[in-house]
Amino acid sequence: MIVHPAQFGHQLSLNENPYGPLPSVRAALTGALVEANRYPEFLPRRLPGLIAARLGHAPDRVVVGAGATGVIMHILQEFVTPGAAVVMATPTFDGYPLLTDTVGGRVVAVPLTHDGHQDLQAMSAAVDHHTAVVVLCSPHNPTGTCIRHGALAEFLERTDPSVTVVFDEAYIDFVPPCDRADTVALVDRHPNLVVMRTFSKAYGLAALRVGYAFGSAPVIARIRRWQLPFGMTALAEAGVRACYAAEDELALRTETITRECGRLTAGLRELGYRVPTSAANFVYLSGCPAELDRVRAGFARDGIQVKHCATGIRITVGDTAATAAVVTAAR
Ligand SMILES: Cc1ncc(COP(=O)(O)O)c(C=O)c1O
Repeated sequence: MIVHPAQFGHQLSLNENPYGPLPSVRAALTGALVEANRYPEFLPRRLPGLIAARLGHAPDRVVVGAGATGVIMHILQEFVTPGAAVVMATPTFDGYPLLTDTVGGRVVAVPLTHDGHQDLQAMSAAVDHHTAVVVLCSPHNPTGTCIRHGALAEFLERTDPSVTVVFDEAYIDFVPPCDRADTVALVDRHPNLVVMRTFSKAYGLAALRVGYAFGSAPVIARIRRWQLPFGMTALAEAGVRACYAAEDELALRTETITRECGRLTAGLRELGYRVPTSAANFVYLSGCPAELDRVRAGFARDGIQVKHCATGIRITVGDTAATAAVVTAAR
């Protein structure tokens, strides 16, 4: 039998949680399978209600979808007319340029600053009367850098309210509460702000495809128009309910991953690489093209799957064995 080295390597290219669903969540999902013969709700009401209660919002201010990707798709379908501009950083989560293209929008890509932050002044300057949507991520994919509350509030103040601002918090559960922007308060002040979250990352439910957005009721109602009947599985609702009952277990998981993220960052910095401080479950290694080519070859040789970007390499935080393998390959 021929064994491909990647089968023995580490899958670190999709920012997945290296640990399976929390044990209590796994048990709840297994229990929910017994009723897999029954359809879920025609259009989800209970699931957004559950999430809204958690946030302290009214249920009509939350929309769910097939992962954050599904909700992003519906936002772009609703707000981006053919040829309209979507301003985003580059590099960013691939879904944004890809889905903008799908709906016939035009990507306006603004380079990150040299230290891996979204350049909020340049992004504001890129907004004009053709702009339908601006996308900000915090933590940012692929660099893991955060946008502080004050910087976001100022950005919103200077953005025309006719422009929809998507603030993507896919990795927010890894960020200490004191470092998070108070987005729940900001959506009250800015009806054009839509905040994205997902159960794919810290909660480890990427295969279930559960994401959501919250914002003002009129904007959420517009996004909901695109929902597919019976589009959310009953397992999604059971999974979210169980996740919310397992916050202590989740905190242990996120602490483990955050600690490993610190070790991975330190290991790569010791080798002389530039790595921004990441608040998420991945790190971004940048350098000159020759240096990056050498690292890419090392990862390929050792069967370590990572995400390659034009200016660097994004590496998902795995377990301690994965950290050791990455540092060895990068050396
Ligand atoms: C910034 C960001 N937003 C959204 C997503 C999509 O997540 P999902 O569709 O799994 O919920 C990702 C996935 O990697 C991401 O990095």
